[in-house]
Amino acid sequence: MRLMQHKREAYWFYRYLSVFYDKLVNPLFWTESMREKALDLGYWDPEDEEDLTVIDVGSGTGFTTEGIVRRVPARNVTCVDQSPHQMSHAREKAALANCSFRLGDAENLPFPDDQFDRYVSAGSIEYWPDPQRGVNEAYRVIKPGGWAMLIGPIEPRNAFSKFVANTWMLFPPEDDYHNYFHRAGFKNVEWTYVAPHWQRNERYGIAIIGRKPAPGKSPNHYVPVAPEHSLVDANPEGMTLGRGALLAGRVLVGSAAGFLFIPMALLASVTAPLRGIDAEPEPLNKHQKVALAAVGVLAAVFIVNRLSRR
Ligand SMILES: C[S@@+](CC[C@H](N)C(=O)[O-])C[C@H]1O[C@@H](n2cnc3c(N)ncnc32)[C@H](O)[C@@H]1O
Repeated sequence: MRLMQHKREAYWFYRYLSVFYDKLVNPLFWTESMREKALDLGYWDPEDEEDLTVIDVGSGTGFTTEGIVRRVPARNVTCVDQSPHQMSHAREKAALANCSFRLGDAENLPFPDDQFDRYVSAGSIEYWPDPQRGVNEAYRVIKPGGWAMLIGPIEPRNAFSKFVANTWMLFPPEDDYHNYFHRAGFKNVEWTYVAPHWQRNERYGIAIIGRKPAPGKSPNHYVPVAPEHSLVDANPEGMTLGRGALLAGRVLVGSAAGFLFIPMALLASVTAPLRGIDAEPEPLNKHQKVALAAVGVLAAVFIVNRLSRR
């Protein structure tokens, strides 16, 4: 399993990343235009006069939820995440004040069968140890006739990016997304691709939806083999010194691999026109400019240091 494709590792990763997640991460990798394109694939008109109810799983700081509440009233939206740190940022957003918030595990959702009209999960599958189980849970908690939407990255084609991505967390190959949905029992599966402006590869990420044809659990429903997979249910006394050291090591190396993506993407963003990418650029915010300047200073120090040794 990849360094971060684990609940405890993801928990500690987001303990710190949540501080600057909205400032540096989303504006580069999961932009507003990507979010809107993905959500537009959904069916947001209620079938009767009742407003749709939506569950947003792995809702984090609420960036995707902000798109959802443009389509349905916030009071009908339930946000679920395993990270209280990420969730505390979502709770502070005025647009999300009327949403409900619940700590929980995507692979073991704390809701009965057939409860919601829509399920959305954006950018969370990367951390799920058993993604098929997460998709089965999406099926279980929506009503018959309801739609589930999963948004996630596709395994990169470039060898270096693929290596970093696969060391870090789960970037499923595109076929896996289709297989998760078909195995879970979804029908009428549709999808679209999303990518930030600086990416040449338009299959950078996928938004895939499917319709639940019948009530109850997924025909593929199964109970996990290892219950300790669930962070929420995990027994903290099971943490020994050795396991703690292993966890810390995985989080450190995984974070380093993850943080490598930020300067890579910042450079890709500013060099996009030079690389012949003519998509409308999204301007850098002040946090990104500071990060870019820091990368520039580090690169200059490295080059000067190398030259002075000659
Ligand atoms: C990249 S963030 C995406 C947040 C948000 N959906 C957005 O669009 O910005 C991934 C989120 O998934 C959450 N997460 C990871 N594994 C999870 C799990 N098993 N159950 C619930 N949430 C999980 C993390 O805590 C994190 O907040």
